[in-house]
Amino acid sequence: MPHGTPARVRDVSRIGRTPLLPVRLQVAGREREVALKLEQFNPGGSVKDRTAYALVEDLEDRGLLGPGRTVVESTSGNLGAALAYVCHSRGYPFVAVVDPKTSRRNLDEMTALAAHVERVDRPDAHGGYLHARLDRVRDLLAGDTSLVWPDQYRNPANPRVHREQTGPEILRHAQARPDAVFVAVSTGGTLAGVAQYLRMVAPECRVVGVDVRGSVALGGPPGRRRLTGIGAGRPSAFARPADCDEVRHVPDAEAVAACHRLRAGTGVGVGGSSGAVLAAAARYLARHPDAGEVVCLCADGADRYEDTVYGAAWLREHGLTPAPSGASTGPAFDAARLA
Ligand SMILES: Cc1ncc(COP(=O)(O)O)c(C=O)c1O
Repeated sequence: MPHGTPARVRDVSRIGRTPLLPVRLQVAGREREVALKLEQFNPGGSVKDRTAYALVEDLEDRGLLGPGRTVVESTSGNLGAALAYVCHSRGYPFVAVVDPKTSRRNLDEMTALAAHVERVDRPDAHGGYLHARLDRVRDLLAGDTSLVWPDQYRNPANPRVHREQTGPEILRHAQARPDAVFVAVSTGGTLAGVAQYLRMVAPECRVVGVDVRGSVALGGPPGRRRLTGIGAGRPSAFARPADCDEVRHVPDAEAVAACHRLRAGTGVGVGGSSGAVLAAAARYLARHPDAGEVVCLCADGADRYEDTVYGAAWLREHGLTPAPSGASTGPAFDAARLA
């Protein structure tokens, strides 16, 4: 698979049915297979296509959208890019409330699809931007009655689409019943939906919620975070730690290292949240030498992180060192280095 941007056909009927790609990784001195569910093959390039489509459909079903109505949403990036094209394809104007961490790539996608971008510049009292973005959305709603807010953080349509589509796809495409499925969390919609489905039909399959250290989405102490797309400054309204068999908090440096090792060894480029998921899966495999197939839900691709996770200047700025490239026997996910 090339490192560059996959060609996109922006047709909402092509959302979902993403490939499950097996790759072989070196974990604790042994070659192990991991299946990557590559959400970058959605037409908008991320798992958030599914969420965006479900949110817009929900507003339509409730009769909240129509001529003269405009969608407004808070987003750190991927949902904004996804909503931009879903709204564009349906003819609804869209206002995206973003922050300084939103990638240039996602901003370009939004503006290319006629979205109006509102950027908050000041962090909130928690040091992040989530609350600042939500305050801006509420201010906009108060001043303009034509605006409609899907509210990805609380709308049950978010986890529902992952319960009804993403979860079933994982089991349909896996070779056997997976031993464990690893899912990154931000709003927690993907994790909650996938976990609910697997609990119903494959309770023996372990669900591992993956967050970054410093995020409080699934509990844990707040702290500085460098990655986008994963983590939140407040607990998820959809997923609680008790909904998962395990919760793993991965340091962002470890997530970045996993991204580099995977790309160097296999040519597959994934985003930072997928690096966290891979790092958590590698630790799991090191602890469970007899585990069967494990599935990593990879929310997006490297294409929107070339100037951050894969960019020399950003890595230097954050004191991160990429793993050496050119691994010939597959990427080494050494448990000692990941511990
Ligand atoms: C790259 C990436 N990974 C993971 C997630 C987590 O998705 P969710 O909001 O469903 O928890 C997101 C959400 O924006 C994302 O953009």
